[in-house]
Amino acid sequence: MRGVPRHLVSIADLDAAEIIAILDHGDRYWPSISSAGAEAIQKQTSLRGRTVINLFFENSTRTRTSFELAAKRLSADAINISGSASSTTKGETLVDTARNLDSMHPDAIVVRHAYGGAAAVIAKSVKAAVINAGDGQHEHPTQALLDAATIRRHKGKIDGLEVVIVGDLAHSRVARSNILCLAKLGARIRLCAPRTLVPRGIEEIGGELTRERVRVVHRLEDGLENADVIMMLRVQSERFDGEACRFPNTRELSRTFGLSERTLAYAKPDAIVMHPGPMNRGVEISPQVADGPRAVILQQVSWGVAIRMAVLERAVLGDVPPP
Ligand code: NCD
Repeated sequence: MRGVPRHLVSIADLDAAEIIAILDHGDRYWPSISSAGAEAIQKQTSLRGRTVINLFFENSTRTRTSFELAAKRLSADAINISGSASSTTKGETLVDTARNLDSMHPDAIVVRHAYGGAAAVIAKSVKAAVINAGDGQHEHPTQALLDAATIRRHKGKIDGLEVVIVGDLAHSRVARSNILCLAKLGARIRLCAPRTLVPRGIEEIGGELTRERVRVVHRLEDGLENADVIMMLRVQSERFDGEACRFPNTRELSRTFGLSERTLAYAKPDAIVMHPGPMNRGVEISPQVADGPRAVILQQVSWGVAIRMAVLERAVLGDVPPP
């Protein structure tokens, strides 16, 4: 029987118990993801006969591939549409495109769009469950969930951890979703960037909760000191959209806010290094750190498949009872 479709538009819509339920659900699929390659994957059959449409209006390597893989590993039919190949280039509105796709009765539509709010608008217009795969500078909820899963795997918990997010906070939907998610799970969050790359009031995005848990610092040493988890962000220059560059030059930014073996020493000796990708090696992160023993960047990508399996099942089947 068809459950109630559940959208996933924003981490703001989830409470801590719902986030933990998704992480636990993703844990069920981790063994098959992490051992993949050793033997053929046993597909789940929970979404057999269901259809997932990936509607991507922005470039993507990890997110799009992992949503497609996740759908296929649950035996759903997965269809990919890229913005440049869709009829929006012929003047059709986003909502019309979504309604037309919905008329073919997909069970879920996964959408990435440059407009902050795109997923919410589509969710109001269609019957399918809508999953936000990144909307402008607003949110990227499944990235935050896979990041939380990765942290939990390595640290055994999230509550009480010191997490620092370093880099272009001004244009980062990943940072916004992570701030909300990690604060709800009890972490303390430091945001570290030059003043020009920190949006005013960012520590207030989750109201009282984030006001208490988030601190902004403007020196890398202050950001890294005693950190358990370091998340590095790329400079998202494609989102600058005609605005003046907010830092003197890339080399200067890299010198003052780049993570290198030298600056990593400020963090705890067992701190893990994360990055949502795509990385700009030699800018926000040195190759030695990116490929070093503390980096869990490729494991984040692997977790993306397990978490998106959980998110798709939740979206299409509603509450999924534990096995
Ligand atoms: C990010 C995105 O697109 O928001 N990447 C991702 O989905 N893993 C971050 C980025 O583009 O820098």
